[in-house]
Amino acid sequence: MRTVTFTQMKDGTEEDWKLLSTGGNREKKYLAGTADRILKEMNSQGDEELAGYKVSRLEHGLQAATRAEADGADVDWIVSALLHDIGDGLAPQNHARFAAELLRPFVREECAWVIEHHGIFQRYYYAHYYGGNREERKRFEDNLYYQACVDFCERWDQSSFDPDYETKSLKHFAPMVREVFSRKAFDPKITRKGVSTGVSSKSK
Ligand SMILES: [Fe+2]
Ligand SMILES: [Fe+2]
Repeated sequence: MRTVTFTQMKDGTEEDWKLLSTGGNREKKYLAGTADRILKEMNSQGDEELAGYKVSRLEHGLQAATRAEADGADVDWIVSALLHDIGDGLAPQNHARFAAELLRPFVREECAWVIEHHGIFQRYYYAHYYGGNREERKRFEDNLYYQACVDFCERWDQSSFDPDYETKSLKHFAPMVREVFSRKAFDPKITRKGVSTGVSSKSK
């Protein structure tokens, strides 16, 4: 394979940069593989136990996405639910933000905000058992997406640790992941800033 001439970026020539972008089309091809890399990562989480829980990390994500779909949520929500904990292994102390940044260019602003804040909102279910404040999320009460985040946690996240729930496979969700990650990044028609649809009609 033809490669660039440089070993330090500062020595790159016009030809080098053309080779990496439109000329060689390589970066484009690499970007087109994002969905596959995400699916591969999710697949690898099937063997990773969530320490002490009854389901694996993959099963938790699949179950959250299955519940979102069953609630009639749109593809932005379903894929966000599927991937909301994808960063648990690499950024356990900041996993919500990790997933949010992955999703942000390709989903509604509402979904990225909810995923970014779900860690704090989930604390409602357990913080008091560790001497913490379960109502920490209340500081976001005036935010447009507050209720969606409350509902996301209640309906799809805190509920998705059930080994007996009929959870759909990663294969089922793969076309949705491909659809979302093939969108044009940061397209205002997709990010729809300031629009809240809520998580589903059933959550009301
Ligand atoms: Fe989480
Ligand atoms: Fe979760």
